[in-house]
Amino acid sequence: MKIRDIGFSIAVAAAALMATTRVEAQGQLNLYCSVQVEWCQAIVTNFQKATGIVVNMTQRGSGENLAQLRAEAQNPRADVWFGGTGDPHLVAAEENLTIAYKSPMLNQLHLWAVRQHEVSKGRTVGVYFGAVGFGFNTELLAKKKLAKPACWADLLKPGYKGEIQMANPNSSGTAYVIIATLVQLWGEEQAMAYLKKLHPNVNAYARTGTGPIKAVARGETAVSLSFVHDAVTETNAGFPVGWATPCEGTGYEIGSMSIVKGSRNLANAKKFYDWALTPDAQKLGFDAAGQLQMPTNKSAPLPPNAPDLTKIKLIDYDVVKYGNTHERKRLLGRWDTEIGSLPR
Ligand code: G6P
Repeated sequence: MKIRDIGFSIAVAAAALMATTRVEAQGQLNLYCSVQVEWCQAIVTNFQKATGIVVNMTQRGSGENLAQLRAEAQNPRADVWFGGTGDPHLVAAEENLTIAYKSPMLNQLHLWAVRQHEVSKGRTVGVYFGAVGFGFNTELLAKKKLAKPACWADLLKPGYKGEIQMANPNSSGTAYVIIATLVQLWGEEQAMAYLKKLHPNVNAYARTGTGPIKAVARGETAVSLSFVHDAVTETNAGFPVGWATPCEGTGYEIGSMSIVKGSRNLANAKKFYDWALTPDAQKLGFDAAGQLQMPTNKSAPLPPNAPDLTKIKLIDYDVVKYGNTHERKRLLGRWDTEIGSLPR
């Protein structure tokens, strides 16, 4: 090895040592993330940059992530669960899979985010808000001479046979919010009867909540049941995607965040939790990933072109009832036996 090369090797080794020392000093964070992967990645990069804490991130749908936390209850691997619909976070709180934490940031949040914290006895907190509706491919609808859906009732029309996609409520929090919304609108029997009638018009039950709107954007299906902010994201990305919220009224999510019980990096988990509630961190969803949920920090701006929530007919979604373990299991059980198992 030449002298020059030795010098280079020493420099590389020193840099590596410094990096290792920094990592050891700041430690790690194991993050389970249930928003779109681009946003999860932006969170990792920016939190690492701000704190020097190395983040190991895994992205999963809300229902899948709840199942993962249950499976790991005796040997938890995650420190924080960020994002995903609020109901499974409330279920995790009730099942003692997450712990209470009172962030100094709480007083900067909208009341609906703080309420999520209160309802869970401090074990989860709202990080964003989004409303349920329809996404549709405008070119495909025109080609097939189909009208844009405006009401839940429209989706049952025979013209939409095989043209609609929604997610599976076991793995996807989005689909569970949709079912809970229908139950709250019409009562359980009518909601189940509706979902049964909808079944022939559904071409697939996707694993994640964003699967159907991505299929709409790619022109694989004409209509999706989705959070409307996810539809606007596709429109902004240049796809021929439109959206509507149901004329009968619709439900919503309070996307949430929780600290996992048994976290091995608890101090870093709390640091992350506080950071994720700052306006700067909340702006990342839009700035880095084009996400259009309404942030929970009152000082975080509403992203441009985000769905105008004041124009949507929202129900008073019962987070206590539908974020309850027993109720969720019961409704999922009904969906599995009465709809999910139907032939296609
Ligand atoms: C997307 C939406 C989020 C939502 C999440 C739920 O990422 O942008 O607002 O919380 O889906 O995902 P899931 O796969 O559980 O339906």
